[in-house]
Amino acid sequence: MRGAFVTGTDTGCGKTAVACAAARQAVKEGLRVRVIKPVETGCLEEGNRLRPLDALALAEASADRSPLDEICPYRLRLAAAPQVAADAEGVEISAERIETLVRRAQGQSDLVIVEGAGGLFVPIGPGLDMADLAGRLGLPLLVVARAALGTINHTRLTLEAASRRGLPLLGVVISHTMPDLPSADRANLDLLRRALGPRLLGELPHGADATVPPVPLRTLLSQSATC
Ligand SMILES: Nc1ncnc2c1ncn2[C@@H]1O[C@H](COP(=O)(O)OP(=O)(O)OP(=O)(O)O)[C@@H](O)[C@H]1O
Ligand SMILES: [Mg+2]
Repeated sequence: MRGAFVTGTDTGCGKTAVACAAARQAVKEGLRVRVIKPVETGCLEEGNRLRPLDALALAEASADRSPLDEICPYRLRLAAAPQVAADAEGVEISAERIETLVRRAQGQSDLVIVEGAGGLFVPIGPGLDMADLAGRLGLPLLVVARAALGTINHTRLTLEAASRRGLPLLGVVISHTMPDLPSADRANLDLLRRALGPRLLGELPHGADATVPPVPLRTLLSQSATC
């Protein structure tokens, strides 16, 4: 099944930015794209509704006009890990419901992009974390790494976790969330680039207009991924 599960080394590392850029690129190439943000926490309250900003950005980038309940079934108030935010509202997150939505989206599109929350080991519910969900959905991982100090460790941890869980990997995208990096950080990043080799698919420059493709489309559409 064509699609990617966008995860990251951390929260705020650029998953939405990269997923939106990839979606825009695919739409530009004439593909029908569906997006799913299964759980979004920290939603803004607007009257008696909750606005999931990531899901809305993804929907806009992909021109996905599906009902919000299909794009983002779990919209939660608390800006916390999904399990914590769900517990606070007495909500139980169902992996089965999420899988049903993803399978339906796959039947309606050429490419499905799913954005996780936080990183792979973020808890969704008892006995269920983001890595379990990615495995259940059977989508290969697109790992977003933040161009900042600490990213070598975070990226290696994420790739090792993915490998141990047997999750297929499309590759890594570095997102430049900050405008300028000190020279020590740039040197760090060079080492990460060399260490990743072909697993580094691309980089999203800082402030890049969202049409810059961070991932070659053929990679997103490929069925082949490495563990
Ligand atoms: N390439 C970039 N250039 C400029 N700003 C960026 C870039 N990538 C990310 N950002 C900014 O960094 C912040 C975090 O990015 P983003 O929301 O994409 O992260 P995330 O991993 O999706 O976060 P979350 O865990 O909350 O879903 C946002 O304010 C975003 O606009
Ligand atoms: Mg996001």
